[in-house]
Amino acid sequence: MAMVTLMMTRPATIALCVLLGGALPAQNTPLSAFSAAKVQTLLQDRLPCLGCHQFGDAGGRIAPDLATVGTRRSRDYIARMVRDPQSAMPGTIMPKTPMPESQRDLIITFLARQGAFAQSEGRRDSARGEEPQPPPAATSPERSPAALYARNCAPCHGAKGAGDGPNARFLPRRPSAHSNRTAMSQRPDDTLFDAIAAGGYILGKSNRMPAFGQTLSTIEMRGLVRYIRELCSCEGPAWSRDGAR
Ligand code: HEC
Ligand code: HEC
Repeated sequence: MAMVTLMMTRPATIALCVLLGGALPAQNTPLSAFSAAKVQTLLQDRLPCLGCHQFGDAGGRIAPDLATVGTRRSRDYIARMVRDPQSAMPGTIMPKTPMPESQRDLIITFLARQGAFAQSEGRRDSARGEEPQPPPAATSPERSPAALYARNCAPCHGAKGAGDGPNARFLPRRPSAHSNRTAMSQRPDDTLFDAIAAGGYILGKSNRMPAFGQTLSTIEMRGLVRYIRELCSCEGPAWSRDGAR
């Protein structure tokens, strides 16, 4: 009796598999249309990812295309990079972006979902244990304010802080000109520090300005504020300075 049931259900199961096989990006966590739209809104308006990363035709040009990352990288690789870039790839300019864990998981699922990695090249690669590995941190990058600025800031803000880095033209809003004396002398040091630590979005500025507070130390961020003061040859408003009250 059990045998008969089995024989009768099998063709139906196979038919179903064939049917679904055509429509689903096999083996990947499905993402509802609602969730996918939510991630797209986060990427566009809330998070800094597209400040650096290309996304199809949109986004910056200093980091790999996130629209196709699922075809190159496993979900696990993507998760490690998004959760803690500095331990996944020591020395990368990618900062760790603060966000709720549930949001992080959603973004990882979205990026991994293209699924071609799991289906084709990637499966063969990982079967051979050959998922491309990040390059070893050759020498730990120099961490003086000038070196940090050149590596992490100049691609958008420009080598001399004129707001004209090579990546600036791919951004919806022009990066602030740190060399602009008039503008920068209106900013207290604390305001500059907060922008570096918390990113643009929270301060009502462009979301493409990343938050470095979970990546650079307080001393390094203070050093960058001082470095901006050199670029503008200016100080903040008198009321904001120590001992000026
Ligand atoms: C300041 C620039 C910057 C920001 C902001 C940034 N990244 Fe990155 N990211 C990079 C760079 C550069 C790489 C490539 C690794 C390297 O060479 O350092 C990278 C690599 C990655 C990778 C692996 C891509 C691959 O093809 O190997 C993923 C996934 C990723 N980033 C996701 C994100 C997400 C999600 C966000 C937003 C929460 C984000 N990144 C924000 C610069 C950035
Ligand atoms: C991916 C591009 C990008 C990178 C990388 C980047 N910024 Fe920005 N930054 C911006 C944009 C865009 C703005 C906001 C402009 C606006 O909304 O007016 C901004 C704004 C700022 C501000 C606010 C200035 C003001 O007008 O009050 C500071 C300070 C700043 N960035 C410092 C830095 C420092 C320091 C680094 C490197 C550690 C850095 N940024 C890296 C794009 C970037």
